[in-house]
Amino acid sequence: MKRAACLALCALLLLCGCGWGAEEQNVPLLILRYADNQPLDYPTTKAAEYFAQLVEERTQGKICVRLYCNGELGDEVRVFEQIQFGGIDLARFSLGTMSDTCPQFEVLALPFLYDDAEHMWRVLDGSIGERFLTSTRQAGVIGLSWFDAGSRSFYTREPIYSLDDLKGLTIRVQESALMTRMVELLGARYVQIPYNDVYSALQTAKIDGAENNWPSYAATGHYQAARYYLLDGHSRLPEMQVMSTEALDKIAAIDEDYVTIIRQCARECAAYERELWLQAEEDAEELVRDYGCVVTTLTGEQLEEFRQAVEPMYEEYSEEQRALIQEIRDS
Ligand code: GCU
Repeated sequence: MKRAACLALCALLLLCGCGWGAEEQNVPLLILRYADNQPLDYPTTKAAEYFAQLVEERTQGKICVRLYCNGELGDEVRVFEQIQFGGIDLARFSLGTMSDTCPQFEVLALPFLYDDAEHMWRVLDGSIGERFLTSTRQAGVIGLSWFDAGSRSFYTREPIYSLDDLKGLTIRVQESALMTRMVELLGARYVQIPYNDVYSALQTAKIDGAENNWPSYAATGHYQAARYYLLDGHSRLPEMQVMSTEALDKIAAIDEDYVTIIRQCARECAAYERELWLQAEEDAEELVRDYGCVVTTLTGEQLEEFRQAVEPMYEEYSEEQRALIQEIRDS
């Protein structure tokens, strides 16, 4: 009996990492919930997994990040509210949906704002990007890093080849005043639908189309329901990794240095996401082309029609914001 008890005790000690206190046992002192509305195996969720791994390694297992994908914790608008209340600790958001709660972001997400991806990254990696990360404090959350989300184009159930063809169609937009205004100016009807509900709206013909980047178009299966992709590249909506202030306080309470560590992990995983993104764009385009989707590219003149149509949006901002828009454009 005595021997069995002794063996059991030894086994228990081994299991516990030979210590009694949580610190010695590598038992997490804090579990952080991280939300993303993309599926596993998507650049943003792979980056989130990498983030979790880095955080765990660099805090010696004291902080554990648990990832919830596919919008399991709710759509972006609801998750953002939860982050504000501290109900969810971390998440990744499209600036489209974030800009309703943080209207200052609209100027970073305007259609045809950037010449190309390099231009956008010059802005986000520079002082403007830093300023905007910090500005999330106004909404009571912490902006950690920027993720890539390429550029967005329209896709529809029925053939479209030009701006004229968009007129009168019902297009899904994000829950975003900015994106709604854009679609309105392009002459289509809009309906706001959360991302994870768009597939069924397309399938049941509740909408005629939507707009998104290549990887989202492919990963959601939207390409199967809406086979016509009109490559107008109207918007670049960068994405942000965000943390709740409650989570920040809890992390700091364990160890002040962990705050710096977590911020660094966020930057590193964002760099990783940007790398993955480029490959994901190529793979997605190949997949949808192989499936037989009709991809229409536009001439310079046709693109100019899109640009002109949304130009009034630029006039709808205050003088101060217009100066900032100019600064972004000149970057
Ligand atoms: C992109 C983005 C999502 C967003 C979605 C949308 O796919 O990555 O975060 O929700 O666009 O159109 O709503």
